[in-house]
Amino acid sequence: MGLKIIILAAGGGTRMRSALPKVLHPLGGAPLLEHVVTTAFALNPERVHVVYGHGGGQVRARLEGIDVEWVEQGEQLGTGHAVQQAMPAVVPGDTVLVLYGDVPLIEAQTLQRLVAAARGGLALISARLPEPTGYGRIVRDGAGKVLRIVEEKDAGEEERAIHEVNTGFLAAEGGALRRWLDGLDNDNAQREYYLTDVIARAVGDGVEVGTVDPRANEEILGVNNRLQLATLERCYQRRQVERLLLEGVTLLDPDRFDLRGALSVGRDVVLDVGVVLEGHVTLGDGVVVGPYSVIRDARIGAGTRIESHCVIDAADVGPDCRIGPYARLRPETRIAAGAHIGNFVEIKKSSIGDGSKVNHLSYIGDTTVGRDVNVGAGTITCNYDGANKHRTEIGDGAFIGSDTQLVAPVKVGAGATIGAGSTITRDVPAGELTLSRIKQETRKGWKRPVKKKGEA
Ligand code: UD1
Ligand code: CA
Repeated sequence: MGLKIIILAAGGGTRMRSALPKVLHPLGGAPLLEHVVTTAFALNPERVHVVYGHGGGQVRARLEGIDVEWVEQGEQLGTGHAVQQAMPAVVPGDTVLVLYGDVPLIEAQTLQRLVAAARGGLALISARLPEPTGYGRIVRDGAGKVLRIVEEKDAGEEERAIHEVNTGFLAAEGGALRRWLDGLDNDNAQREYYLTDVIARAVGDGVEVGTVDPRANEEILGVNNRLQLATLERCYQRRQVERLLLEGVTLLDPDRFDLRGALSVGRDVVLDVGVVLEGHVTLGDGVVVGPYSVIRDARIGAGTRIESHCVIDAADVGPDCRIGPYARLRPETRIAAGAHIGNFVEIKKSSIGDGSKVNHLSYIGDTTVGRDVNVGAGTITCNYDGANKHRTEIGDGAFIGSDTQLVAPVKVGAGATIGAGSTITRDVPAGELTLSRIKQETRKGWKRPVKKKGEA
């Protein structure tokens, strides 16, 4: 005897016009269905059942590792039929809660009120909408008691004028629900087994049907097309932004910031316009992120400034660094405290030591850079021989002249200096000047060729 949650997710979603099953379309970076599953688990249920159909394999694969019971609905014969598929797992005394894989913004607190209202009987979430078209309508008697739900397609003119709609969310006692479902027929306009028909059956059994309002109407909005998805994305982002602002984050324009994942922040973090954060991002105290930077699965230490237009992907940046503008940090990059990474610098699978500088137009890949190293403009680590990747090591305090190519595998000793324009193919000794350069010469009196008269 416990709470059993049934999530309906078998619908085809044709109006998305997509190869991707509807419930896998992302909202805030996570599939619609994942939002619903997460909310379901927040209610501490005994079990969560997901009724799937269309694109089932893909849906299951995408949510792999999440502990739900998958129930296949071979043919979509209606919402009542869909719920029935999961009923074998329900025993009398259970409370069954029905959720929808394409209605992602429902809140756990609203659902708790619904479950409480259903105790031993049946309750649903209804809403009063100025524009009720498309929804089932709640029909009440003169005393205000719920009598039944009529679907739009089966409704007469008077019923269509009702503004109180069925949101679809419903909770009921397990044994009674099974009985009501077993008696359903598909004698209606859509030839479907309607879940909504259990309401009239419950009323027939003398059950008083409870109704619960959502806290906000956006909680009950479903996704049928990409226009609705875009609307819900903005609702979702607005909710997150309100929370972040109240947590003490400065967002220079709350309408131009997207969080697609989870953010943990220190104090006095400032995020400029167009910042996109994805996956798990951690920003330390006083971090400033400039306009149009994208940070994904990364950690940024306290006091670090990320200037505009940077892309930071699965990198770990220490405190008091300066990154960008226009820098790209790729996975497995570690930047230690106080380092500077400047414009048009790409760093991949490398560590940069304390206080080191790579300020302009460089590529550093598969490299260990010590502390207080200066990497001159245009330096390239040639880490790839066409088949394999090789490592470069640069010791503490080294100075790499501009436009140097370091052909890996190669080591530069501590305190070494490399003259500008060098192509380094062998290890460089510590503390010495090394250069590989063709000597400059001047040809005195040399004259440029000139055009002969009459020639084109
Ligand atoms: C349903 C309700 C309607 C309510 C509306 C709210 C019924 C009969 N009607 O109508 O009262 O106002 O939701 O949005 O319940 N699904 C399955 N298997 C099926 C059929 C549907 O899993 O065989 C799933 C769909 O994927 C979807 C949900 O159930 O997530 C609702 O189905 P849908 O066909 O959209 O119902 P509506 O006609 O919108
Ligand atoms: Ca629908």
